[in-house]
Amino acid sequence: MNPTDSLESALADLDSLASAGRLALDGAGDLALLEAARIEFLGQKQGRLKSAQERLKALEPTARKAYGQRFNLVKGELEALLEASRERLAAKAQVVDGIDVALPGIRPVLGHRHPLTQTTEELTEIFGRFGFAVARGPEVEDLWHNFDALNIPQSHPARDPIDNFYLSSARGGAGLHERPWAMLRSQTSTVQIRVMESQPPPVRIIAIGRVYRPDTVDATHSFMFHQIEGLMVQKGVTMADLKSVLSLFARAYLGEDVKIRFRPSFFPFTEPSVEVDMLWHGKARWVEMGGAGMVDPNVLRAVGYDPEEVSGFAFGLGIERLCMRRHGIDDIRLLYQNDVGFLRQF
Ligand code: PHE
Repeated sequence: MNPTDSLESALADLDSLASAGRLALDGAGDLALLEAARIEFLGQKQGRLKSAQERLKALEPTARKAYGQRFNLVKGELEALLEASRERLAAKAQVVDGIDVALPGIRPVLGHRHPLTQTTEELTEIFGRFGFAVARGPEVEDLWHNFDALNIPQSHPARDPIDNFYLSSARGGAGLHERPWAMLRSQTSTVQIRVMESQPPPVRIIAIGRVYRPDTVDATHSFMFHQIEGLMVQKGVTMADLKSVLSLFARAYLGEDVKIRFRPSFFPFTEPSVEVDMLWHGKARWVEMGGAGMVDPNVLRAVGYDPEEVSGFAFGLGIERLCMRRHGIDDIRLLYQNDVGFLRQF
């Protein structure tokens, strides 16, 4: 910049800037033009007033005071004009029958599927790729499908009324010794039986649905939750097939880095039996994902299959736990409260 800039020419330029600014700010016909004028004259970075202010430095020290005073007047005037134009234009926004037709539209809020439904769909898709078809069974179930056919004897503690929702309206016989014959199913293993009763091997299905147990509700338990049951029966199925299907599944749903482990366990309807655990993120903690094992020969016999001919594996996993592990949810109750603020996150 010229260090010997003259006061006269600087003031003259300031004056023409002021009249151009008045014209643009006062004459703007709508808010967009006004905004363009604001940026041109009052813009913080490259506005014309900003450059006029820089010019101060190029003036003789004695001339600076006069220039500075005039600059402040012009700036104040243009800022006031901007405000006045803004109010004027806002007031004349197009109003038709009391509706401002120039306002942008309001996007309606769209709902979306519940995280448990999303999980169910994804699991169905993953097992579909592995060749598993979807099977279904009723939630009100008889004791044959929930217990007897699954090799759970009459005296087994799993039948205790404390641990099951028997339906009192479904009693066989009369009097003191009447026994309920129906219940809310406590496991989706019931569907294994229904499928095998209805078709010969080979079988490769999953069944997803609600199950009911009178558990005390806490962060990891609920009296109703969802399970995914898997069943594969044909010639030559082994425990190695079970392990590889579950490992492939865990990696597909929970990510390549997921760690799972198999612990020896017991179920009346599988032999040998395992419990399947997954490592919870960030915490060095194993959480049970469900149970699995090789279908017990007694179960195959109960549905008329020949255990000398075919073998199979079965598994039953908790859907809530999988969904919680996937999304980092630490309280199962959140999945049932229908708090829109929570649900919007998925
Ligand atoms: N039905 C068992 C449960 O609910 C899980 C399971 C399914 C175990 C299939 C083995 C085979 O705990």
